[in-house]
Amino acid sequence: MTKKHDIIWLESVDSTNDQAKRDISVLDNLSVLSALTQTGGRGQKGNTWSSEPGQNLLFSVVLKFNDDHGALEQIQAYDQFVISEITALSVVDLLSSYRIEAKIKWPNDIYVCNRKICGILIENALKGKSLTSSIVGIGLNVNQKTFDPSLPNPISMAICGSRTYDMESLLEEFMEIFTGYLDRYCNIRRYGQLRTLYLSQMWRLNEKALFIDNTKESDMTFEGTIRGLSEVGHLIIENNEGELKEFAFKEMSYII
Ligand code: BTN
Repeated sequence: MTKKHDIIWLESVDSTNDQAKRDISVLDNLSVLSALTQTGGRGQKGNTWSSEPGQNLLFSVVLKFNDDHGALEQIQAYDQFVISEITALSVVDLLSSYRIEAKIKWPNDIYVCNRKICGILIENALKGKSLTSSIVGIGLNVNQKTFDPSLPNPISMAICGSRTYDMESLLEEFMEIFTGYLDRYCNIRRYGQLRTLYLSQMWRLNEKALFIDNTKESDMTFEGTIRGLSEVGHLIIENNEGELKEFAFKEMSYII
């Protein structure tokens, strides 16, 4: 495999997202920081992200959207969900190239059956109404076979495929797929087509399931069906009375 991407491998770091944030001014667009271990790995909703040292991919991709040479086309704050879309789709495609069929659990998890194989933490910096940079943090479970029982429902590529994987090749392949999505959909603003692709890979789309509405005073469980996404990427769920309700991230939880 040829090495085309600017990947910096670190032995240990607090969090690749935090390191990327600290170094943002000296990192080029599309630089990647990847660590064998994180001492303060962060997940969504203030959670921690834990991983056995050297067993999984833990990395952050730096995206820069200014007018400098080599930077990406501008993305408006309103359209920022496109970054989640290309990231999640890239992970699904990467897994599919190893015959692992995965789905996107909105907004930023990748699931195989009902188990989580990858988590994504995207942190955007804005100036006015546009993005100036984005740090796309990805934790992909690769070779780890046993997990802390306190984790709700983890799975790894090694569990799915009954083999181990070379992490450097995987990361190079991911970057190849990811930069392809950037070129085909973001840099030329084919956002509608991107949305169609994202919906086609969405976990539990059009399936009746139980959810928790976190906007209610005492979190309310309800049955409903995911029907799609709003323009900005909020989740639309239809309840059993046929009413549609839109949820921003953190406003709902899934019952798995
Ligand atoms: C989640 O599912 O909660 C998101 C997990 C994101 C974990 C990755 S690992 C690399 C990067 N650095 C971090 O501290 N977090 C992300």
